[in-house]
Amino acid sequence: MEITREIHMQQKTARRLILFPLPLQGHITPMLQLASILYTKGFSITIIHTQFNPPNPSNYPHFTFHSIPDGLLESEANTSDVIRLLTLMNVNCITPFRDCLAKLLADVSKDPVACLITDAMWHFTQSVAEILKIPRIVLRTSSVCSFLAFVALPHLLEKNLSIQEEPVQELPPLKVKDLPMITTRNSEDLYQLLSLAVKETRASSGFIWNSFEDLEPLALTTCTQKLTIPTFPIGPFHKYFPASSSSLLTQDQSSISWLNTQAPKSVIYVSFGSIAALNEAQFLEIAWGLANSNQPFLWVVRPGLVRGSEWLEPLPNGFLENLNGRGHIVKWAPQEKVLAHHATGGFWTHNGWNSTLESICEGVPMICQPFFGDQMVNARYVSHVWKVGVHLENKIERMEIARAIRRLMVEADGKEKEMRERIEHLKEKVDDCLSQGGSSYQSLENLTSYLLSF
Ligand code: UDX
Repeated sequence: MEITREIHMQQKTARRLILFPLPLQGHITPMLQLASILYTKGFSITIIHTQFNPPNPSNYPHFTFHSIPDGLLESEANTSDVIRLLTLMNVNCITPFRDCLAKLLADVSKDPVACLITDAMWHFTQSVAEILKIPRIVLRTSSVCSFLAFVALPHLLEKNLSIQEEPVQELPPLKVKDLPMITTRNSEDLYQLLSLAVKETRASSGFIWNSFEDLEPLALTTCTQKLTIPTFPIGPFHKYFPASSSSLLTQDQSSISWLNTQAPKSVIYVSFGSIAALNEAQFLEIAWGLANSNQPFLWVVRPGLVRGSEWLEPLPNGFLENLNGRGHIVKWAPQEKVLAHHATGGFWTHNGWNSTLESICEGVPMICQPFFGDQMVNARYVSHVWKVGVHLENKIERMEIARAIRRLMVEADGKEKEMRERIEHLKEKVDDCLSQGGSSYQSLENLTSYLLSF
């Protein structure tokens, strides 16, 4: 769907929204996409951002950007322990954020502010909003089903569940091993962060989801019942626009020129997102699994993906050369374009929510390789609820990898064929929900009216 400038002009509302993204790729992207969607609805947009992982203002000439200090030491400004990072920032940013917001609210030369929109993980912003008497709306950038698992997690942890293959009664079809755990040096930090994020979301004025009704109908109903605040599932955000430009890393366009040389639906695209890390042994199993599959592959090896290595040093000498052009490795790809490319036939993914949605929107079936947190839940839903992917549940092992790739890409028996049909069907549902009268379209209309009511 395209929201035209014409609609924007018709609905020019002269109200300003202040948005505060969490400075991680998988969170910045949807928040800036949301900002662009709301801009087309006539709102003017101000972004407050941290010094850590700042967005590039030149990609958004219509927005106003304000940077605040995040107080992170050089040794703290990285994603090796995300929970620690978020815990620190939720403390360090209180004063600079409050001062910045107070100044923006006092600026009478600009359009009056309708409300503040922040990532759910910025829990401290709820009390700042209350002090400054401005409504706060929450954007949750993950799936609704994984949010419900996060809500249940503190209670489940008290039950001391230890049998990994056991089903979690409260959250079907999740097993204990799918619970959205995140390794951190102090497990109390995880518990605190999640509890506060949920508590302050409950206290907020509304909830925006980068998801859509037809994908998560039950989870959305449960969530609305549990939180009793207005809920707006308006996703998938990235389908409102051509491929987005909020990438923190430079996207290597050779991905596309290489894909142009490959046969339709022949390439397995491999990427594990912006945070997940591997040890050297796992990395080598993946490399040999790809090589042994005999299928063409496009592999994103982000600098830092392999712990203790700069980039590709662990690969045996001549690894790529020996594949005679069957493999292409980049540091970062233009992922949306890669998934939309006719040569891409499968996505071996960590199931971050953005990647999962992007794959669904392009009708590309997945091989699921979740690492932590919400990825575990998304992977279970992809393989067992939407049934549009296969789950690699065991240790990363080259023979199993090669088999999974060949089954998905080449042998495609009844099960795989059905998977492709199902994801094509979901892709059609995406088009339906975004077109006039569709559920996300209507939800965006409701959100616009709601924002104007403040
Ligand atoms: C993180 C968490 O890991 C994830 O579980 C959570 O849902 C969001 O925050 P990340 O690991 O970055 O996200 O994964 P994901 O949500 O999939 O987002 C990655 C984004 O980077 C996607 O929009 C993808 O298109 C983009 N990307 C990825 C690229 O542009 N190029 C690449 O090479 C890889």
